Amino acid sequence: MPKRNIARRLNHAALSRVFGNILSNALKYSDGDLNISLSEEGEITVSNAASGLDELQVEKLFNRFYTVEAARNSTGLGLTIAKTLIEQMKGEISARYSDKKLSIYIRFPGDAPGKIEVPYGK
Ligand SMILES: Nc1ncnc2c1ncn2[C@@H]1O[C@H](COP(=O)(O)OP(=O)(O)OP(=O)(O)O)[C@@H](O)[C@H]1O
Ligand SMILES: [Mg+2]
Repeated sequence: MPKRNIARRLNHAALSRVFGNILSNALKYSDGDLNISLSEEGEITVSNAASGLDELQVEKLFNRFYTVEAARNSTGLGLTIAKTLIEQMKGEISARYSDKKLSIYIRFPGDAPGKIEVPYGK
């Protein structure tokens, strides 16, 4: 967690949909753990152990209707909707799988160090 503030101006409803899904996924599918971090660059990482997944499945996580849990009342749309909403806000989401851990990375553009939005004198 960085010491300085990281601020983004984003759509509240869209953002709560995104994090609602990502957190409910962690509740439903993690092996019991959950780790959330924010980097100096403003990238959010949500990760948990997911011994039931494999790399091939992780490549498809953002596909429409892709769900590994057909029996558990899942439509397989949550991450697809999250990706669409994040991209509408000019952000990016990706997933990586290693050591039986799933990590979801989310970033939104903004406050690049040294960026001057309104030049002096204008
Ligand atoms: N945090 C996680 N840990 C392990 N597996 C996950 C995690 N998040 C998603 N998955 C896997 O990815 C699949 C797709 O997730 P997604 O949120 O798109 O759909 P869903 O949760 O199955 O259905 P819905 O979100 O529509 O209720 C899940 O079925 C699950 O197998
Ligand atoms: Mg879901």
